[in-house]
Amino acid sequence: MTQNIQKIGKTKFQNKHLIGIEDLSVDEINLILDLANHYADELDKGDFQSDALKGKIILTLFFEDSTRTQTSFEIAAKRLGAEVVNLDLKTSSLNKGETFEDTIKTINAMHPDGIIIRHHEHGAPVVVSKMVDCPVINAGDSWREHPTQALLDALTIRRKIGDVKGKTIAMIGDIAHSRVANSNMKLFTKLGAKIHVVAPEILMPEKFPVEGIEKFFSLEEGLKNVDIIISDRIYLERMEGSPIKSEAAYFEEYGLTKEKLSYANDAVIILAPGPIIRGVQLSDDVADDKNSSLILEQVRNGVPTRMAVMDILMKERG
Ligand code: CP
Repeated sequence: MTQNIQKIGKTKFQNKHLIGIEDLSVDEINLILDLANHYADELDKGDFQSDALKGKIILTLFFEDSTRTQTSFEIAAKRLGAEVVNLDLKTSSLNKGETFEDTIKTINAMHPDGIIIRHHEHGAPVVVSKMVDCPVINAGDSWREHPTQALLDALTIRRKIGDVKGKTIAMIGDIAHSRVANSNMKLFTKLGAKIHVVAPEILMPEKFPVEGIEKFFSLEEGLKNVDIIISDRIYLERMEGSPIKSEAAYFEEYGLTKEKLSYANDAVIILAPGPIIRGVQLSDDVADDKNSSLILEQVRNGVPTRMAVMDILMKERG
């Protein structure tokens, strides 16, 4: 991992890039969350505009589809005064036979000030970070990591119920293929939460990225004493064929309904990284519950979280 140690307040930020949660110390995570919380407060007041990244050009490279992440990175960059160039990979010269490496070298020759990359292959952001001169932010690679999603989940929990330390989080669904779950297991363990993973055998990871995770095969068992639920969809794009007998049978056993929420603590809150698949991973009334569902709050918090990460990595500091 390339280092570019910056002192921000009392915290030394060790990395030039944000590739994964595993590279962040607890102090660095808290630095990002504190700044994201500040930006969230400012955005709540309306019409916030900063010139923290004025004169910078941020390039987004999405080799895989996105609604939330790409849009919120673009909005976040513009809120900080940067200009954004989205390379449309459907019409790029990759389609004429240019290699991935030559594409990245070509882009680097134009001197962007930051690159945001999503890729379906494990480790693609690491490869890019070693080839370019500017900071690289991983916007999701395969099922390995999606660090800014995990950070925005942490911000959402913090803004709704406070410190996650000592809380129990249940992650439900296709955890075996979820980059969000991988990043969240690392992040929330670092922040002192207890984690339950609830999934059918076929969607349960063979091993977890960190120690101390408890696994359950039923919602009734896995939701006991749980304060926070994170619901993951089934990532069909990362496998061949469907891993489940039927959507109805999966929903019956693992779909979140109001009735099944009663297994958890009374004030349980529900997060889901989105896109959500209604009627498979959760019911409409759970997804749309105004008190307990934070799904749209997560989307909202994606902007200040990405503002904080870009500010820390891309702003000139004297
Ligand atoms: N949660 C998430 O990464 O959403 P998108 O795929 O829409 O970016």
